[in-house]
Amino acid sequence: MSKVLITGGAGFIGSTLADKLVEEGNEVVIVDDLSMGSTENIPQSINVTFYEESITNHFFMTKLLITNNFDYIYLLAAVASVADSIERPIETHAVNQNANLNILETIRKEKLTPKKIVFSSSAAVYGNGPELPKKETSSIDPMSPYAIDKFATERFMVDYGKLYGLPTVCTRFFNVYGPKQNPKSPYSGVLSIVSDCLVRDDIFTLFGDGSQTRDYVYIDDVVDALLILATTPEAKNDVYNVATGETISLVDVIKAYESASGRKVKVVKKEARLGDVQDSLADITKLRGLGYEPKVNVTAGLAKYWDALQEK
Ligand code: NAD
Ligand code: UD1
Repeated sequence: MSKVLITGGAGFIGSTLADKLVEEGNEVVIVDDLSMGSTENIPQSINVTFYEESITNHFFMTKLLITNNFDYIYLLAAVASVADSIERPIETHAVNQNANLNILETIRKEKLTPKKIVFSSSAAVYGNGPELPKKETSSIDPMSPYAIDKFATERFMVDYGKLYGLPTVCTRFFNVYGPKQNPKSPYSGVLSIVSDCLVRDDIFTLFGDGSQTRDYVYIDDVVDALLILATTPEAKNDVYNVATGETISLVDVIKAYESASGRKVKVVKKEARLGDVQDSLADITKLRGLGYEPKVNVTAGLAKYWDALQEK
């Protein structure tokens, strides 16, 4: 049994990871300020401890880290929206970068001994560079405060490994989707918003012409990737794409979701969002080299997502 910290563990990816870790018999500590997450997401188990706290509370985080000396640390807390970071660059920087740097510094200064620190970075770091699919070595072009903070924090993670020997690894998630993703903010992940519109028969606002493409990866594949990266010793002080290696336009993914749900989405079009990336697709060769293989394509994933919403 390992002792695991998940920041942002009441959110979409963090809570699904917590479900899996608890199922495997680990002890899980979650820190989340519930700005986007919910206590309903957190698995009910005596092996889970939840703190409603912000990771920007450095005093609290430092004490928590020293008291527990965790085996594994997953840094998933973030203001996860590109658009929100453009509205609030200073506030989001405090969460997306400074709070994570404080965690690294505490581990270094206090000589804590995690087996792995996994940081959730993003495909957003690639921006609109022409090379597709994106390899981890492709050019970087962060186009928003969110992407800048993700890239800078990645570098801190990699270099804390190289300079001070901390075992870190970074995931460049592409567009993750599935049950538990919160649709309630206008900045939420697009498929959670489409889901909500399908369920409530609401109008979906499509920004741009719908030709923008994304590599949508189902949550179960993402949890697999996180566990592989945490437990593979060679995956150290490095960065990995986490995706499916397949791409689809927004209009086509909406059509696919209409087929999966047997419903129609009412769409109204608006101007493209500032800082929006046009095309995104991953090369996942590097992660495949560690034994990762995505199991859920977009058709199967949307069907699973819709079924889960029906059960709810
Ligand atoms: P999410 O919003 O569901 O989860 C993030 C969690 O962090 C939320 O529960 C939120 O309440 C919490 N949080 C926010 N600010 C906090 C703070 N100051 N202190 C403590 N908790 C705080 O988003 P998610 O989709 O689960 O994303 C998890 C991570 O993966 C994030 O770092 C995000 O940037 C990254 N990511 C997600 C995607 C995606 O497609 N979902 C893609 C790339 C990267
Ligand atoms: C998403 C993630 C981000 C991650 C990135 C990695 C969320 C909220 N954002 O950003 O954390 O770093 O993937 O690739 O999970 N759109 C609409 N209508 C809407 C909402 C969105 O048309 O109501 C459009 C957007 O303009 C965009 C596309 O859908 O073109 C996808 O948007 P979104 O789900 O917010 O994802 P990204 O911006 O790609």
